[in-house]
Amino acid sequence: MTGYDRDLAYIHDTGFTDFARKAAPGLLRLLRQNRILGGLVVDAGCGSGVWARELSDRGYKVLGIDISVSMIRLARQQAPAAKFQVGSFLGAVLPPCDAVTSIGECINYGFDGRSGKKGLAEFFRRVYAALRPGGVFLFDVVEPGVSADGVPLRRFLEGPDWAILLEVREDRRRQALTRQIVSFRRLGDLYRRSEEIHRLHLYPRAELLTELRRAGFETRLLGGYGRFRFQPAHVGFLARKPVAEKHIKISRNTN
Ligand SMILES: C[S@@+](CC[C@H](N)C(=O)[O-])C[C@H]1O[C@@H](n2cnc3c(N)ncnc32)[C@H](O)[C@@H]1O
Repeated sequence: MTGYDRDLAYIHDTGFTDFARKAAPGLLRLLRQNRILGGLVVDAGCGSGVWARELSDRGYKVLGIDISVSMIRLARQQAPAAKFQVGSFLGAVLPPCDAVTSIGECINYGFDGRSGKKGLAEFFRRVYAALRPGGVFLFDVVEPGVSADGVPLRRFLEGPDWAILLEVREDRRRQALTRQIVSFRRLGDLYRRSEEIHRLHLYPRAELLTELRRAGFETRLLGGYGRFRFQPAHVGFLARKPVAEKHIKISRNTN
């Protein structure tokens, strides 16, 4: 199951890229603070390319990866200097790079059958292997606790030429979230209706910290990207590959 088909990708780009836009100044500062002043950034779940554009405007090389063909089509227009690839970041070959980013809950999505705790732990290991020493992995996730007591949240949202009906349900065990999205996009005098169901895995921060450290990262939790603060039940991670990798000391008994 994948998502963000043509209409929802368009709606995401026109109505829901504020997250990436507002996150960008703080993300750029985090890169600079970690002495990543250029080089290659891999953006896992690049969507319509807003963050990729911010990066390439500042001289970074970018490889954006997204599972949605429609998102990648928009990203290519948005950030012509960046490179893009359609596919799952959970299976993609990650090139040697200076930073990996995954902005806007991409890591929670269940679009790829390999998603979930095990697949994510494997992805963390591959990100670690791709990063140069001192390189960083920046991402954010939704945690359990989005809706109180399993009560579904219902929202009606609209833009100049679209509207969506959204229902969000968290399962009883607080391990997964389902977003049912009915969208209407205006085409001439008519509106085209589409429907998508997105399933997201919910990860408590402690679990992800454990997996990141197991992969070898030094970690820091983020309550936002700079001045842009996250909503409740949302948390960010700055995971850094140590400059000097830890080696296990093997002592030989010479007696
Ligand atoms: C909420 S959107 C965020 C997009 C973009 N980062 C932004 O901030 O505008 C989540 C994106 O993650 C992508 N995605 C989810 N799972 C993925 C996977 N396994 N591999 C590649 N892309 C994935 C979706 O297609 C979607 O574009």
